[in-house]
Amino acid sequence: MPRLVRTQREMEGRFEDVWVLVDPDDDLETWPADADLALVGRPAVRQDGALRVTGDARYTGDIQLPGMLHAAVLRSPVAHGRVTRLDVGAARALPGVRAVIAPDTSVGFGGDPLLASETEYAGQPIAAVAGDTPEAAAAAVDALRLGIEALPHVVDPDEALREQRFTKEPSETVRGDVDAAFAAADVVVELEIETPAHLQTALEPHGAVAHWEGEELTAWVSTQGMFDARAELARRFSLPRESVRVITEFVGGGFGAKQGAGVEAILAAELARVTRRPVRLVNDRHAEQLDGGRRSWTRQTVKLGARVDGGLVAVESAAVISMGLGGWVFPVNQPALNLYAVEHARGMEFPLRTNLRAHNAFRAPGVTEGVTVFEQAVDELALALGIDPLELRRLNHVERDQQSGLPYSSKHLLACYDRAAELSGWAQRETLRGPQADGLLRGMGCATQIWWGGGGPPAHATIRLDASGHALVTTGIQDIGTGTLTTARIVAAEELGLPLDRVRVIGGDTRANVYAPVSGGSMTTPAVMPAVRSAAGKVRRTLLELASDVLEIAADDLAVRDGRIRSRDGGLDVPVTEVTEKLGHATIDGSGARGPNPDGFRVHTFGCQIAQVAVDAALGEVRVERVVAVHDVGRIVNPLGASSQAEGGVLQGVAYALSEELVIDPTTGVPVNASLDDYKLPTIADVPEIVIEFVNVPDPNLPNIGAKGLGEPPIVPTAAAVANAFAHATGRRCRALPMTRARVLEALRGAEGEGEGEASLAPTEALQ
Ligand code: MOS
Repeated sequence: MPRLVRTQREMEGRFEDVWVLVDPDDDLETWPADADLALVGRPAVRQDGALRVTGDARYTGDIQLPGMLHAAVLRSPVAHGRVTRLDVGAARALPGVRAVIAPDTSVGFGGDPLLASETEYAGQPIAAVAGDTPEAAAAAVDALRLGIEALPHVVDPDEALREQRFTKEPSETVRGDVDAAFAAADVVVELEIETPAHLQTALEPHGAVAHWEGEELTAWVSTQGMFDARAELARRFSLPRESVRVITEFVGGGFGAKQGAGVEAILAAELARVTRRPVRLVNDRHAEQLDGGRRSWTRQTVKLGARVDGGLVAVESAAVISMGLGGWVFPVNQPALNLYAVEHARGMEFPLRTNLRAHNAFRAPGVTEGVTVFEQAVDELALALGIDPLELRRLNHVERDQQSGLPYSSKHLLACYDRAAELSGWAQRETLRGPQADGLLRGMGCATQIWWGGGGPPAHATIRLDASGHALVTTGIQDIGTGTLTTARIVAAEELGLPLDRVRVIGGDTRANVYAPVSGGSMTTPAVMPAVRSAAGKVRRTLLELASDVLEIAADDLAVRDGRIRSRDGGLDVPVTEVTEKLGHATIDGSGARGPNPDGFRVHTFGCQIAQVAVDAALGEVRVERVVAVHDVGRIVNPLGASSQAEGGVLQGVAYALSEELVIDPTTGVPVNASLDDYKLPTIADVPEIVIEFVNVPDPNLPNIGAKGLGEPPIVPTAAAVANAFAHATGRRCRALPMTRARVLEALRGAEGEGEGEASLAPTEALQ
């Protein structure tokens, strides 16, 4: 019988206590590392790969419904303004315009308004319209007469710091006696580096199509969390959850920016409600780059104290974070506090309130920013100590989470270091360095990855095996582009003993009410796959019981593999259909629930990346030639999907280091490069050689698969490894990322790696 138990749920480092439904029958042991598996651990192409590449996959923006209207949004032209006039008459009178909603007309939003009459960032929605065609909607937005009085804005972090504009009080986490430990240290290094505002820039922008039938709302939403979107729409429109259906069949990426319903789905649903017509609202690229979300700009000051033998004795990190209007303060200091063994540590966070959209999650939020700076400081320490950077990291290896004192459920970081060193040719690093025949300066740098990614309950799956021997797996997965439906297919087929092509996994629809969590926090594989395996285990056991009825051999003496049922003594070997065909129209059903993570552990992912760069000192150009990425995320279910995930993360990290940066005009407070022309995404020409390996050892403490998540880990160490390779090549560091030509030339000109820029305000001084 199912039971309700109290357990802890983790999402991107946040812990909450929850009740979850568990089934004591979901008790399969984790496959051992040497298990003889037919499918798990072997590369498999995507279940939906052909649909995606042929254009047959239906993304939210592809949905066309009879009578569907098109929405457009009027956005704030200023960073801070008061609407003095909003004349909607002319817009309403245009042909083909069906609705205009504005701050004073919109109702039914249940709580915080989505349309503002005082705007606090450029691009903030003020009004929304719906028309028969996209052109009619655009014309209506043009016809809205907006009067807006510009008010003072703050986008400059130092100004915000001076004015002590915080989204919440600065906070401090302290362990040990940090000041005394620094005083006693043999060597102290300090490094201050800025990291850029970084846009998620998913290939598919945010968008939704909303359709009411009576009091029932169906919404196609480009979201990472369709169940969260359902809950949010139900709350906003005061509907029971069962009256909202969210469909998220194909998603073109999210990277953290697509949590819940989003403003797009809520506005589309409101416009659909008032017009009684289906409404489509999809961001254009400018809106997406302006209002889709971002990783925050930070300035981090990291101080490290060590003994001459390399042992870290004290760490301090102060992170100034330009949050925009708010949002969760991501764990920027997590690497400083936990990446290496250190008794005395202090992390300080200064979350500044600035006139920008509230920041949101972006692939390993906080930790990517933190590692990017902290790991550069670790390299500076290695230089000061005269110790090889990789060796310094090995010396300070730690086997437990130092904030909680709990051991890691598994950690194979040392194996990652060893393998990354081999694959990169780390031993020849010094020969590589310096001017080459081609006139370029080469260097090699490393960095360590840490992140969560253990997943947890709740997550469920159901499976039906039919007479033809085909299994239909129903999950709540929204496959945001990572291939998690295929991962589920592999796990189900393995446990069912069926070939892959006899298993089909569906997700992307809340109607079945089979829950999976948000595709975030690197949790889909570790959260959902154990539920899929449990469900498959029940179907397999029932299948073998039924086989025993038909074949008159005890179920315990039977096994199923490759679509065949065999007796253990080898005397019997029949296709599964020999049994299933007797089902007629009946099916063999099984449901699985993801059990809790074990108490007494912290679950983390680890890895090491080593980058090789070539620097053209005359042009200030940095080219990443090669990145070796070796990660420990427990068991790898689909090596093909895993390496794709890692390649994408590395490339996104390379661009974070070299080119991507939202630039905001301090005078107007308006982003000036909110387009794909000016916001420098990497192109295929920027892709280095990327070498991926996984340690691939199952975590024995995680339920039944031993797999952790991989969505976020690969981006975490890349920028730091690239910056460290640059420092190795040139002896200099850029004070700010990305390492644009201007910044590189400044760093190469400056003395001792210091740029010429003015000294920034120390956050602690601003507080006095
Ligand atoms: Mo989170 S950045 O949605 O994985």
